[in-house]
Amino acid sequence: MKFLILNGPNLNLLGSREPGIYGAETYDALCKRLEAFAAAHGSTAVCVQSNSEGGIIDALHAARGKFNAVILNPGAYTHYSYAILDAITAAEVPCIEVHISNVHRREEFRRRSVTAPACVGQICGLGSYGYEAAMGYFLAQGGTPQCV
Ligand code: DQA
Repeated sequence: MKFLILNGPNLNLLGSREPGIYGAETYDALCKRLEAFAAAHGSTAVCVQSNSEGGIIDALHAARGKFNAVILNPGAYTHYSYAILDAITAAEVPCIEVHISNVHRREEFRRRSVTAPACVGQICGLGSYGYEAAMGYFLAQGGTPQCV
């Protein structure tokens, strides 16, 4: 399978940004780990990060027909970007939303995801392991998610 691992704003700062919440692993180390995980499962993972809404939308459009699945952490856009919601739907590539932190244990505004309804499902609170869990799900499903 070909996975697009798409991370939104501020996730390039992983490792130095609030490590008590997001962990000590850097963004580059995370990408290397996810690429290695995919390779170990006969797959490829391409990591893309953008700090802008348009960058995320462009990456979703470009994923159409090129990737079997998207693992998306939209960062704070999760909570208010209807444009990203529409782009996930338009891309027609199954997507799992991942949050490193448990968004339900934090500020009230983080509990709401406007983007999750366009996704197969959402994983949160498992730290950066959530990205591997999402890939593992798609691998187990052979690329065809059961739930819609
Ligand atoms: C996050 C949670 C969001 O609320 C926050 O804005 C982020 C990271 C997470 O991975 O836990 O930037 O998506």
